[in-house]
Amino acid sequence: MKIIQNYDLKKLNTFGISARAKFFIEIQNELDLKELFKLPEFKDNEKLFLGGGSNILFMKDFNGIVILNKLKGIEILEENSEYVVIRSMGGEIWHDLIIFAVNRGYWGIENLSLIPGTVGAAPMQNIGAYGVELKDTLENVEAYDIKTGEKRIFKKNECKFDYRYSIFKDELKSKYFISAITLKLSKIEKKNINYKILQEYLEKNKIEIKNSKDISDAVAYIRKSKLPDPVLIGNAGSFFKNIFVTNEKMESFLSTYPEMPYFKEPADAKAMSGKEENIKIPASWLIEKCGWKGKRIGNVGVHEKQALVLVNYGGATGEEVKNLSEQIITSVFSKFGLTLEREVNLI
Ligand code: EPU
Repeated sequence: MKIIQNYDLKKLNTFGISARAKFFIEIQNELDLKELFKLPEFKDNEKLFLGGGSNILFMKDFNGIVILNKLKGIEILEENSEYVVIRSMGGEIWHDLIIFAVNRGYWGIENLSLIPGTVGAAPMQNIGAYGVELKDTLENVEAYDIKTGEKRIFKKNECKFDYRYSIFKDELKSKYFISAITLKLSKIEKKNINYKILQEYLEKNKIEIKNSKDISDAVAYIRKSKLPDPVLIGNAGSFFKNIFVTNEKMESFLSTYPEMPYFKEPADAKAMSGKEENIKIPASWLIEKCGWKGKRIGNVGVHEKQALVLVNYGGATGEEVKNLSEQIITSVFSKFGLTLEREVNLI
């Protein structure tokens, strides 16, 4: 384990923004982690834990220590004829865990295929796509208290999961290092194909779902056809969160904009079930309606196939991306009176 000074973070964030870290260190195993907690460079500096860097935007150099989670390993903890409990270390690539599951015929996370990032970052924002969220299969999260170095196991209900939200993003922000997660997956067919776009794709292509890999392949195809590959063009997936409104608000919108899309099927609105604001309006539609889709300003722009995604055409600064996001927030607010919230973390 070695500390590197003045480390270039450009390749460690999918936006491809140039920024430097005062100190940088990679964690390969749990022993490294114990060592890390004792280091003066760790104790005395601001800390940033990094996984795949797929949900952050660097605004400037990071004047502290960046810790890259490289903890690897996937194991089966328990298994019977109906389900399997698997534990994955946080430094595994999220999609590698999907491959592990679908190749063995396990059901539960296939709709989350190809989400960029690592396993350890997945609980932070309760990753979700195509009608499924991480919380649907998660059993617990293992995390180290960075002050005491003690390991704690958080049961699902202690994580306070919600739409793109968990306790680790809020009350416990920067207080814990997520080392591993445990999931319970089904060995019995449990398909979730209610998400409109997924259902339409399967019907159009006459795809019959025989196993979880079929769903994984379909989701991967849909994602590739509309989301830009961060290797080719810098981006962090959805830059904003979708918006949830009440029935009443939706009705009033529909009288002005009868074509406004909204979703209240379980697959889309379940994230907000129990709340009064349980109708989802796609933020991408609002942004598109304000004329932003495909627009480019200097080095940054709004992706031409998915208006929720901001892109770095090369050489952009965090400030440029933030400015663009602010212009979008302002125009959506003045047209619809709705305030977009960022999903990406500004550092
Ligand atoms: N739409 C537009 N314009 C666009 C794109 C979409 O009007 O440019 C409208 C359409 O009506 C479409 C609806 O938005 O039917 C939904 O579009 P889509 O299924 O592409 O999903 P989304 O709501 O825009 C969310 C997640 C994505 C996830 C997809 C699929 C958030 C913030 N984003 O996007 O997650 O892949 O659903 O489930 O919830 C991410 O978090 O980085 C991410 C990519």
